[in-house]
Amino acid sequence: MIRGKQDDYPTLSEILQSYNVLQNKVENFINMRPGFFFVFSAERIEGSRGPYYACTVGDSKSRVESKAWIGDSGVIEPRAGHIALADYMRDEKYGLSIKVKRNFTLDEMEAYSAGSTTQLIPVVRDIAALRSEIQRLIESVKNGFLRELLEGLLGENGSCREFFDSPAAKTYHHALIGGLAGHSFQVARYALGIYDLSPSRESIDRDMLVTAALLHDIGKVKTYSTDDYAFEYTDRGQLEDHIAIGVRILEREIVKIDGFPETLASELIHAVISHHGELQYGSPVTPKTREAFILSLCDNLDARLDHFESQAAATPEDSSWTEYSRMFQSRLYRGNH
Ligand SMILES: [Fe+2]
Ligand SMILES: [Fe+2]
Repeated sequence: MIRGKQDDYPTLSEILQSYNVLQNKVENFINMRPGFFFVFSAERIEGSRGPYYACTVGDSKSRVESKAWIGDSGVIEPRAGHIALADYMRDEKYGLSIKVKRNFTLDEMEAYSAGSTTQLIPVVRDIAALRSEIQRLIESVKNGFLRELLEGLLGENGSCREFFDSPAAKTYHHALIGGLAGHSFQVARYALGIYDLSPSRESIDRDMLVTAALLHDIGKVKTYSTDDYAFEYTDRGQLEDHIAIGVRILEREIVKIDGFPETLASELIHAVISHHGELQYGSPVTPKTREAFILSLCDNLDARLDHFESQAAATPEDSSWTEYSRMFQSRLYRGNH
C-alpha cells in the first residue's frame, strides 16, 4: 500500500492479489480508492471510438499490459516514466484498464509519500549491501589473475560498473535495476553451496566457479536499455546477445592483465559461453568442465525460482495456481500461502 496524506492506495501487485475476491467486473475494488501505477510505456492509439493509450503499467514486482482511456473530464494522458494515480477496472475479458487523474515524477512521488517509489519502480532494494557482498566474494578469490579480472570489471573503479544498474532480463527473471548483480551473486552462492557439499570438491576450482558465476551474464550490461525502467533490447543486444557480448568484454579486460594464462582464459570463456547448457538455448558449446556444469545448473535454478516467485506474487490470494507461465509452459502451483 502507498500511504497518502489521508488514505492508503494500492499498487498493481496488491490489485492482482485481491482480484478474485470480487468477481467479474470490478472498479477501484481495494478501499474504493484509485491505485498508483508506474507507467513503463504509453503509446497513443487512434481507435475507431476515439484515442486511447496502450500502456505497460506496474510496480516493483509486476507489470501488465493495460489500456488508459482518455476523454472524460478530469482524466489526463498517461506519461511513460511517470507514476499515475488512476481509477482502475479489471475484468476477465479485457484485463486492466485505467483512467489517469494525476501524474507524478519520481521526485514528486517521494515528496507526496516518502519511500513510496521503492514499491513502484523495479530497483533492487539495497544495492549498496549487494555491492559490498560481491566485493567480499571477489576478495575471497585466491587466484591473482581471476581476482584482478573481477576487480578490473566489478571493483570500486572497475570498467563495468553498469553491472550494478542492469536488469538480468526483460521480464522473465530479475527484471529490475540491479537484477543482474543480484542474480549473478545468487548464482555464485548456489554454486558455492554445491562446491561445499560435492564429493568432487577437491577437483573443483573454487576460484573459477566464483569468477564464472559472477561474470556469466556480464554481456547483459549492453543487452538492455533501461530508459523508464522499460527494459527493451538494445540494437547490440539483438544483434549479438549477451553471451557474445560477454566474451568481448572479458577478452578486452583479460588482455590488460600481464601474463594471464591462456588455459585459464579458455576455461573461463568456456564456462561463460556454455552456461545456457544446450545449443538450442543459445550456447555455442555444452558444458564440459565441472565448474561449467555447476554454473549452468545454478543459473537455470536461480532464473526459474525467481520467475516462480514473481508469478506467485501476482497471484490472487485465494488461488493456489498462478497464471500461465510461458517460461514453464504451465500454470504453477504455489500452495495456500
Ligand atoms: Fe545467460
Ligand atoms: Fe544468468
